[in-house]
Amino acid sequence: MTKTELLESAKHAKENAYAPYSNFKVGAAVLTKTGEVFTGCNIENSSYGATICAERVAIGNAVSSGHVGLEMIAIASSGVKTVYPCGICRQVMNEFNQNMIILCESETGFEEYTLPELLPKGFD
Ligand code: THU
Repeated sequence: MTKTELLESAKHAKENAYAPYSNFKVGAAVLTKTGEVFTGCNIENSSYGATICAERVAIGNAVSSGHVGLEMIAIASSGVKTVYPCGICRQVMNEFNQNMIILCESETGFEEYTLPELLPKGFD
């Protein structure tokens, strides 16, 4: 699984986004340390605060399938600007790998970060 392929999985997952309120679709794909891929999309709710981000859905899918060793996550969106994970999602990533690699779709492909770059001093 290459980084480009992981991003393709995130783009595919984005198609299932349930985003009738923002109309902003996000997809995420997590690569486990043992090579499995789990995907997620944002799932909105009429009670807006109950919305779940694509990243947390993907991580939840991995964890609920028994995979807590997470290597990398790719994020794709329907927007023109690069989407960076929200603060809650960064903290959730921190739970499973404090050095997780994060790929954010960009105009030219993807931007690559490590979690400490996006979440210095996460809670642990
Ligand atoms: N969203 C994500 O799924 N991931 C992010 O990193 C940022 C925001 C979703 C939540 C909501 O459904 C929509 O994007 C607009 O905020």
